[in-house]
Amino acid sequence: MDQAHKKRIAAKAALDFIDHGTVLGMGTGSTVNFLIELLPSIRERIDKVTSSSKATTALLEENGFEVATLNACGDPDLYIDGADEATKRGHLIKGGGGALTREKVLAGAARKFVCIIDDSKLVGMLGEFPLPIEVLPMAQAFVARQIIKMGGRPVWREGFVTDNGNHIIDIHDLAISNPLEMETRINQVPGILTVGIFAHRAADVLLVASDQGVRQIGA
Ligand code: 5RP
Repeated sequence: MDQAHKKRIAAKAALDFIDHGTVLGMGTGSTVNFLIELLPSIRERIDKVTSSSKATTALLEENGFEVATLNACGDPDLYIDGADEATKRGHLIKGGGGALTREKVLAGAARKFVCIIDDSKLVGMLGEFPLPIEVLPMAQAFVARQIIKMGGRPVWREGFVTDNGNHIIDIHDLAISNPLEMETRINQVPGILTVGIFAHRAADVLLVASDQGVRQIGA
């Protein structure tokens, strides 16, 4: 089974978590896009939907959904999103698509966070995927120097501007043996808006698609 097919079956499995009357938060990325295309089939179960990016909002609207702001809809019952890496404990690296800040807000606000991935993303230790951080443009050089002091190799995602008007630095060569500690540490650097480690608010459920089907980790 190719990776796109795995993403599609992980997305389909997430439909079972959407109960009648759900206020739904939607993440960003190609796995989530497969899910958005399936949402019209269970439209009656969704009370309100809110989104983590302009791209997701556009696709939801194309599929006939009116997208509410988080301020208007209140805390989501359920947040569904993909990830770039995940451990069995639900610790994640996110932000490959650059939407990490709004994703972290929705994940933090939601009662339940279901993460949909293919099995290539399930890892023993986070950090092989370069860790994205969203950075205020005026702080970019300062932040890069702090990252080097931490042992990382910062690479500016050139030409990319986030939905919030900021820049992304991808941190290479960072061994993240303690995701909780590393998330806290990077969060202390002034000028970093969001770090793409999701450990303090980990996923409650991982749906991992492989050739054998979709396995659920967590509840
Ligand atoms: C976007 C993200 C995505 O969830 C992550 O990059 C996975 O994307 P995809 O589903 O396309 O593999 O964090 O900021």
